Amino acid sequence: MSKKNYHKAIQNPIFEVIAKASKDLQVKSYVIGGFVRDYLLKRGTPKDIDVVALGSGIELAKKVAEVLPKKTKVSVFKNFGTAMLRYEDLEVEFVGARKESYHFDSRKPVVENGTLEDDQNRRDFTINALAISLNEKNYGELLDPFNGVSDLEKKIIRTPLDPDITYSDDPLRMMRAIRFASQLNFRIEEKSLEAIKKNKNRIKIISNERIVDELNKILLSKKPSIGFSLLFKTGLLEIIMPELTNLQGIEEKEGQKHKDNFWHTLEVVDNISKNTDDLWLRWAALLHDIGKAPTKRFDDKIGWTFHGHEFVGSKMVYKLFKRLHMPLNDKMKLVQKLVLMSSRPIVLAQEIVTDSAVRRLIFDAGEHVEDLMTLCEADITTKNPKRYKKYSNNFKIVRQKITEVEERDQVRNFQPPVDGAEIMEVFNLKPSREIGVIKEAIKEAILEGEIPNEHDAAFEFMLKRGKKLGLTPVNEK
Ligand code: CTP
Repeated sequence: MSKKNYHKAIQNPIFEVIAKASKDLQVKSYVIGGFVRDYLLKRGTPKDIDVVALGSGIELAKKVAEVLPKKTKVSVFKNFGTAMLRYEDLEVEFVGARKESYHFDSRKPVVENGTLEDDQNRRDFTINALAISLNEKNYGELLDPFNGVSDLEKKIIRTPLDPDITYSDDPLRMMRAIRFASQLNFRIEEKSLEAIKKNKNRIKIISNERIVDELNKILLSKKPSIGFSLLFKTGLLEIIMPELTNLQGIEEKEGQKHKDNFWHTLEVVDNISKNTDDLWLRWAALLHDIGKAPTKRFDDKIGWTFHGHEFVGSKMVYKLFKRLHMPLNDKMKLVQKLVLMSSRPIVLAQEIVTDSAVRRLIFDAGEHVEDLMTLCEADITTKNPKRYKKYSNNFKIVRQKITEVEERDQVRNFQPPVDGAEIMEVFNLKPSREIGVIKEAIKEAILEGEIPNEHDAAFEFMLKRGKKLGLTPVNEK
């Protein structure tokens, strides 16, 4: 297999240029890592190319820029001994081959000049250590000293060195192993899994940003539960997101059990992933029940309750995002809102769906009402086919009503048809409590369906409501 030629993988003209630059410098070079892996997996043409040089990666990058016909900027990262340039839509990164050791508790490598095999040794996984030669003598030859191709075929994540060394060299690799398992639907070799369990606490030296990058990639994979159950089983999840692991377990009291909210959550995440690629909707699914751990109570009359878990959960979303250094922006607010409202359509779906209930739902969820429905549909994990059918049918009715009611009443981005200024003018009022009372009454009447969401109807209603408060319109004085 290793003698097979991979010319096809390196057809892009940039590889010829790198080969020429290498020859000029008399430095051997290879394309390595994700590019080769994804080519062999037929995952489309990768946009990132990693090139390893048996010499200075920075010098090679500069030479490549010289050979390229167009003026090309080289970004040099001296501390890391790497350089990067862009060619069309590709990002090409150059690094010198390393045979490196690591300072304990630090990710900063001590760089030494190494051979290709030294460099492949220090990479994270056998499937990421595959290299294709860019040298005249064996241009296009695949160099695979750790049987990475066979691991690709067997769908297995394995480290080139003893996994204890690979993971403690760079603990982020524990997350990467799980992320690749989830993205590619691969199995992590048993020895590797054991090493992750053993080294789990070393994840604490990794920055939150890098951890979140991996979490996002797991969440965006086709079946995120693969990644999250591995995070759970290795003990990493308890360190990174105890809010989630606190949901695990079933308690029984007086013969009454509640469901395991952790495994339920993972099912919801898988479900929503079938219907949306939106990262933040997937985060909302992951966090929709986190308020259930701190609010769990047993009530003698009604059994297990999680009273107010949506509100508590939405507060926890903020704390979790802050702790993990995630953006505290509109996306966080969307996740909070969806968690806060996550039970609303469920209540609707259990009852007869009235127009006014739907109108209130649209009013409260605003522009996110469809997202909320997507979350709630994913939340149906009952194994009882009758109940499943009933809930999903009711949700269909809710969706249909949302469209009908919104077409008619337009409460999604509610703007009061009669505003405070008009009320003040009609009754000759200064800013006062009465204005708020009238505005609220108009909004309630619209949501209840007593009056349509139109100016004239709301104006009439305002006159009546004002009179009830003892106010007289100016033109009747
Ligand atoms: N690598 C490593 N250890 C890490 C990160 C990266 O050994 N902690 C090596 C791997 O050989 C990897 C290469 O560096 O293939 C490039 O890393 P990166 O661009 O982060 O990942 P890719 O493997 O290209 O995959 P993806 O683009 O999906 O993240």
